[in-house]
Amino acid sequence: MPRPINFCSGPAALPVPVLERMQTELADFAGSGISVMEHSHRDARIVSLFEETESLLKSLLGIGSEYRALFLPGGATLQFAQLPMNLLRAGACGAYLTTGAWSEKAIKECQRYGDAVEVASSKASSYTEIPPRSDWRIPDSACYFHLCTNETIHGVEWFGSLADIEIPVVADMSSHLLSRQMPMQEFSLVYAGAQKNLGTAGVTIVLIRDDLAIEPQASTPSLLNYTNQMANDSMVNTPPVFPVWVLKLVLEWVRDSGGVSAMESRNQRKAEMLYAAIDQSSLYQNPVATSARSWMNVPFVLHDANRDAAFVSQAEAHGLLNLKGHRSVGGMRASIYNAISEDDVQILIDFMREFERTSA
Ligand SMILES: Cc1ncc(COP(=O)(O)O)c(C=O)c1O
Repeated sequence: MPRPINFCSGPAALPVPVLERMQTELADFAGSGISVMEHSHRDARIVSLFEETESLLKSLLGIGSEYRALFLPGGATLQFAQLPMNLLRAGACGAYLTTGAWSEKAIKECQRYGDAVEVASSKASSYTEIPPRSDWRIPDSACYFHLCTNETIHGVEWFGSLADIEIPVVADMSSHLLSRQMPMQEFSLVYAGAQKNLGTAGVTIVLIRDDLAIEPQASTPSLLNYTNQMANDSMVNTPPVFPVWVLKLVLEWVRDSGGVSAMESRNQRKAEMLYAAIDQSSLYQNPVATSARSWMNVPFVLHDANRDAAFVSQAEAHGLLNLKGHRSVGGMRASIYNAISEDDVQILIDFMREFERTSA
């Protein structure tokens, strides 16, 4: 029986070589005789683990000493709050682009800590596009601009440039960091939960450029203060050591597989194959504007929604797991992160064609 293919949006598929390394190395970390979870985070081996992970991540992203990479607890959801706590000055506002469920949550959380202004929204089109740049109204009082560059639920991805925005740009890249080369210099702060493309839940990557003004609100807990976390190398308290170790193994797998440019070529081919199969069929449909179709999360509906349950159960019987769409949008969704191969996507397409043929 071949291994099932996991199309879950997150926690998501991990590369099999990473799982195998975890299995081999779990009980004895770096020749110490005990596991990575049993060491003090002050142990030199764990300090090195954090340093090496930061350095490898930055080298894969093509950024240098102008950025710090923090490894923080709380998921991307905590960043929705931690961000305004650290960046929102009195009298200023956060400017938010709303392109789906995750950017909706981000602005709502910001409103608990200060003024947040929506610069544009694609809600009226059920988040099937990104509002055109000419419609964005960024207020003069904004001290940062926030967007979610890949909306995991709606399958909408940002492919444009933000180079003309003069205030710091902040991005939630939770579901596509390291899936393709991004113009990282356009971003002053980037955050991403690890459990989709980067590893396992429990650690959130936060990249901060050194020219970003951080002015935490007085009530900000010391654990959530970015400056404090940078000064303490992500170790203000006991950090999520195990997920950082898994992250490092995933980064090494990306490096050894040809780096982000190799991921990008492969991911583009995977997305093109799957969207072409959907567009050519008369059973499946993807509602997203072609220019904004995500390479990582591909939602699709069946023309006959009564067939949804049969699709999901037959897919499972074929070893194709977690294809049910998010409960807020229905239908199906295939998340095809870095760990999903072109062969995996072809197997999904073959199944979809067979299901269409037999349900005609
Ligand atoms: C784009 C995006 N942002 C934020 C989150 C929230 O992440 P977490 O569950 O790590 O808080 C998710 C989770 O799916 C996501 O896809």
